[in-house]
Amino acid sequence: MNDWSRALSANQAEETAAPMAPATGNRGLQIEEKLIFEQDSPGHCGVDLAEPAPFRSRLDGLERQSPIGLPGLSEPQVVRHFTRLSQKNYAIDTGLYPLGSCTMKHNPRLNEKLARLPGLADIHPLQPVSTVPGALELIDTLAHWLKTLTGMPAIALTPAAGAHGELCGMMAIRAALEARGNCRSRVLVPESAHGTNPATAAACGYTVDQIPADATGRVDRAALEAKLGVDVAALMLTNPNTCGLFESEIIKIAEAVHAAGAFFYCDGANFNAIVGRVRPADLGIDCMHLNLHKTFSTPHGGGGPGSGPVALTESLAPYAPLPWIVHGPDGLRLLEHKTGPAGQSLGRLKGFHGQMGMFVRALAYMMSHGSDGLRQVAEDAVLNANYLLARLANELSLSFPGSCMHEVLFDDSFLKETGVTTLDFAKALIDQGYHPMTMYFPLIVHGAMLVEPTETESKASLDEFIEVLKALATSARSGELPHFRAAPVSTPRRRLDETRAARKPVLRWGPEPLERDAPE
Ligand SMILES: Cc1ncc(COP(=O)(O)O)c(C=O)c1O
Repeated sequence: MNDWSRALSANQAEETAAPMAPATGNRGLQIEEKLIFEQDSPGHCGVDLAEPAPFRSRLDGLERQSPIGLPGLSEPQVVRHFTRLSQKNYAIDTGLYPLGSCTMKHNPRLNEKLARLPGLADIHPLQPVSTVPGALELIDTLAHWLKTLTGMPAIALTPAAGAHGELCGMMAIRAALEARGNCRSRVLVPESAHGTNPATAAACGYTVDQIPADATGRVDRAALEAKLGVDVAALMLTNPNTCGLFESEIIKIAEAVHAAGAFFYCDGANFNAIVGRVRPADLGIDCMHLNLHKTFSTPHGGGGPGSGPVALTESLAPYAPLPWIVHGPDGLRLLEHKTGPAGQSLGRLKGFHGQMGMFVRALAYMMSHGSDGLRQVAEDAVLNANYLLARLANELSLSFPGSCMHEVLFDDSFLKETGVTTLDFAKALIDQGYHPMTMYFPLIVHGAMLVEPTETESKASLDEFIEVLKALATSARSGELPHFRAAPVSTPRRRLDETRAARKPVLRWGPEPLERDAPE
């Protein structure tokens, strides 16, 4: 490599004059990007089409009368705009993404390659079933793997996310209880649960009863048993839980729930910590959703298609949403109506058959790893989290004693009397080139910092992260409060007013500031 392409040495850097203040707001190659509407140059267009020949409209006077309001930009302008925006994004493909509870795991490129095979990518959901036997077989094979891994007899594949899976499962539980003559009125949810759990129970018409955690971060079994009664429809328990801990009394909990005539719903979002090692059915679980993006490496999607299949025990299987894929004498068949064996189904929860692209990726992940490989994935995820725990236990403060599963939970007691908050600490991490961990969740510990490294981070990558966290903890303790309060200083935008952004979101751009955005 030529000398002039190397980084400046410390002395050279000192000798270098301060950069000129940019006239554009740009910093280095970091471009200050305006909204696309602010780049509007009327008359510019990316295409040059001839005026259409006169034609008779069939809209019967319903044609739009006013301009559509799209900004005028040439193709190169559009390409630059979206390329620059994409470069402002942080992603698992950019660096370590320790966002606990979200499992930002590597998406293998093999999965992507298979999902793009024309025979899979180009099929249309409205194609006659007779023309897509391969797709049915793929979906059925995925269901087979999920049944094997969970030990459950039925899988509903259409739910489009974990939260949607929860809705599916709780609707099935309600339907099963209604069929028994009483849908009951209460659902028990531990206080550490993801917010989607109580929201789902409420959406299904239940009142939510919170169960406290015990001193070890697990569900307080005595408190739970005291709340069980004939009006309890279900317990919604996450395992491993949101503190990154295995609910060690889960079998006794399941027995108590069943003795009360209730169902045991498990939030299986953290299945990635136990896949291949524990079969949820063996723990007494009746129903559990899986997030394919968390356990089986499908992309998080940035609001795009997700997939949250639900595993159901025998008594809930009849309520699985449509369509069903069933084995018949002539091969696989699609049941699309609430008749025959699907007579008690919830009906459709989603258009078509679910997120095919995600099914292909998840199955590719399963088949390329094999069952032993999946078990190894879970073990490595747990090992990586425990490595962080062991190396940081004396620098940060652990919320609960003992080892953890796939994520490690710290609280803010190590920052006591420094004036630095969890938010400051996380923002300072950004200046060090890291996406922050999950902050202030779960709610049961003060100033939570939930770190999930995932299985694919190397030891070198974890060591570097550990050194950064240690250095930040040391500077917090040595009184560098202004540094933390100012962070982040190296990002395109400094610290945002997150409260205002949440309370007064501006969701639509207008040429004039929208009224609700006006200064108070
Ligand atoms: C414990 C837990 N439950 C439920 C969910 C909701 O899943 P989704 O975001 O796919 O709707 C998540 C999401 O990460 C989760 O961590």
